[in-house]
Amino acid sequence: MAISQLSLTDFRNLKSTTLDLDPRLNLISGANGSGKTSLLEAIYILCQAHSFRSHQLKQCIQHGKPGFLLFGRFEGFKAGLAKNNKKLEIRIDGETIKRRSELVSRAPVNILNADIFQLIEGSPQKRRAFLDWCLFHVEPDYAEHWRKFQHALKQRNRLLKSRKDLKLLEYWNQHLIDPAVEISSMRREYSGAVENILTGEFGKVLSGIPLEINYQQGWPAHQDLAEALHGHREGDIRSGFTSVGIHRDDIVMTSEGRKVGEILSRGQSKRLCLALLLAVLNLVNKIRETRIILLIDDLHSELDREAQDLVYDQLLDMDLQLFISNIDSVAPGSLGAKEFKLFHVEHGIIKPRNFS
Ligand SMILES: Nc1ncnc2c1ncn2[C@@H]1O[C@H](COP(=O)(O)OP(=O)(O)OP(=O)(O)O)[C@@H](O)[C@H]1O
Ligand SMILES: [Mg+2]
Repeated sequence: MAISQLSLTDFRNLKSTTLDLDPRLNLISGANGSGKTSLLEAIYILCQAHSFRSHQLKQCIQHGKPGFLLFGRFEGFKAGLAKNNKKLEIRIDGETIKRRSELVSRAPVNILNADIFQLIEGSPQKRRAFLDWCLFHVEPDYAEHWRKFQHALKQRNRLLKSRKDLKLLEYWNQHLIDPAVEISSMRREYSGAVENILTGEFGKVLSGIPLEINYQQGWPAHQDLAEALHGHREGDIRSGFTSVGIHRDDIVMTSEGRKVGEILSRGQSKRLCLALLLAVLNLVNKIRETRIILLIDDLHSELDREAQDLVYDQLLDMDLQLFISNIDSVAPGSLGAKEFKLFHVEHGIIKPRNFS
């Protein structure tokens, strides 16, 4: 779902403005500290209601201002988001919504920046979140299962910490198991689907590295979750938290049986992370049949020219609305005759420059 117009007021260092956006390709230039990442962040927040760089949205309020406003026209709907020190209000077509997921499901957005390279070296949480982004957008029931699981986990952990009413553990176990089993089977299925796409269509980006992707459940392989929860009961009571479940899952990547983190070179690891992103975007594109917004921030310093060309070639072939900061990063050859819009940012002032 592309965004055609963005208005922002009192957001970070950016001067309040309204921008008409290209449905396919938007390039953002500007010196360090001018506000390029802030512009990408505004788009991300308008689709996700949270940021990729601050835990608290109030950090995005322009210094000295009471709050920020974002407004966007998307294909088929309008979204508005108002944040001040006290509250966050999200509106779709003028109506205030209660659940963040109502906004998030509308316009899939993802960010490609240096953090993507954490997919291999980072914690399992990074890999789960990466795969779950895809599940959220392609599996209609995912969000509800996730919400139920989180609720049950929180209640179970509260009980374990308090060490009171421990007979209620059985009750919360069941509430935890039902959604966990659903999410676990989705993660297993989509790990396989990502492996297929990645080794097939995006094999070129991987440059011939053999790759296997396996879902690893967050409890012993030979047990079902009920048995595992039962088996860890005493330990969980001692430690005060739930030690087994889908919050301990991992997506394990190996090449000819060895963990990729141990054998791939730095360059190969980067290519693998990019190929993973391409595969997941491709999967969501195919199933949802909707345009995904992809924000690309400061990637050039991380990739050599050949890898850049390869990735931009693939991205431009997909049904995406791209926002790319730092246009030095874009290989002129891969942009060719395509139409795009260019925005130049100077001390927070965004100036559109039209090209075609
Ligand atoms: N809440 C805020 N209010 C006002 N200014 C802010 C706020 N948060 C950050 N800034 C400032 O906004 C400026 C722009 O930051 P931003 O990260 O968007 O720049 P950038 O163009 O991406 O730079 P770089 O090329 O170094 O990545 C910075 O100088 C930063 O200090
Ligand atoms: Mg930046």
